[in-house]
Amino acid sequence: MDIKVKIKGTGIYAPKKVVTNFDLEKIVETSDEWIFERTGIKQRHICSTEGGEWPSDMAYHATLDALKAANLEPNDIDMILFASVTPDHKLPNTACILQQKLGITNKCAALDIAAACSGFVYGLNMATGLIKMGAIKNALIIGSEMLSREINWKDRNTCILFGDGCGVAIVGANEDASDSSDVLSLHLGADGKGKEFFDQPVGGAVEPITPTHIEESSHFMQMKGREMFKVATRTLAENARIVLDRADEKLENVDWLIPHQANVRIIETTGKLLGIDPEKVIINIDKYANTSAATVPIAMHEAITDGRIERGQLLLLDAFGAGLTTGATLLRY
Ligand code: UT7
Repeated sequence: MDIKVKIKGTGIYAPKKVVTNFDLEKIVETSDEWIFERTGIKQRHICSTEGGEWPSDMAYHATLDALKAANLEPNDIDMILFASVTPDHKLPNTACILQQKLGITNKCAALDIAAACSGFVYGLNMATGLIKMGAIKNALIIGSEMLSREINWKDRNTCILFGDGCGVAIVGANEDASDSSDVLSLHLGADGKGKEFFDQPVGGAVEPITPTHIEESSHFMQMKGREMFKVATRTLAENARIVLDRADEKLENVDWLIPHQANVRIIETTGKLLGIDPEKVIINIDKYANTSAATVPIAMHEAITDGRIERGQLLLLDAFGAGLTTGATLLRY
């Protein structure tokens, strides 16, 4: 019997501190006008470094809302998939930290996913497979990032682009025969040839951070923006076609495209390549900037809570990130 998979509840957490483009004008040579025109970003949220807003804390708050929306208890969760490039610590994984914070005592599986901006979609698709084969009933999928820690605040090529935040979704088996909610098709992929387009080679086993790296600020994230831009638009459009083909669906039937929020021009170019009505594309990069694995679940949650996304509608989630990783999901909400 085919088991249907439903998004049962979502939640987000946005750190309290907001940094506007005007604030950035004071620390690097840039302008609100340049940032907004070239990226669509107006502001970003930044985590406190005093505690209380670590990636696991953000996920904790967002999960409480998702559990409420799903009408579930923490112990109903059978698996935690925590997508982040900025985990709380190297060890243990942040999924285990979150399991403990949520008071989950059922010993559910807890795994971190390092797939950069595609991490949430990776988690959603992997959980879908496990639910459909009957191995688990409910999974908690998280995208939670504190990118402000890994950004060189003196580098205008990167510091203007990113923000902190968290989005989560609880997905589970849909046992109601009259309920059409289901994941209809999915796609995951990666192309390691583009690994140098967006990387952070210092700080791992190969090259631990030394005082020289800190002096030269070479331990932060580095990105070749133009290269990423080109691959991103092509890949996002390709992904959408793949999941539509796999589900034998037409683009015109899609109610909402929820793309990774890296740059509004990437989103608009992807939309044009696909030929989708711009009114059907969810964009909130102006408020949050690029929060990596968190952009897709934050955008989805906002559109659910403000009433744009309704039950029964067809959603296309589409992501792309460092690695280069990529993934998409076509689902009936
Ligand atoms: O999540 C996935 C990873 N991220 C992405 O996929 C991001 C993809 N890339 C991008 O979003 C864009 O490439 C950027 C926003 C990073 C850059 O936009 P661009 O239109 O590609 O600008 P550019 O790098 O070609 O730079 C154009 C000009 C340059 O000046 P010259 O050489 O024309 O005199 C830059 O030096 O803009 C200058 N510039 C800036 N000026 C003001 C670059 N950054 C800034 C800045 N403020 N922050």
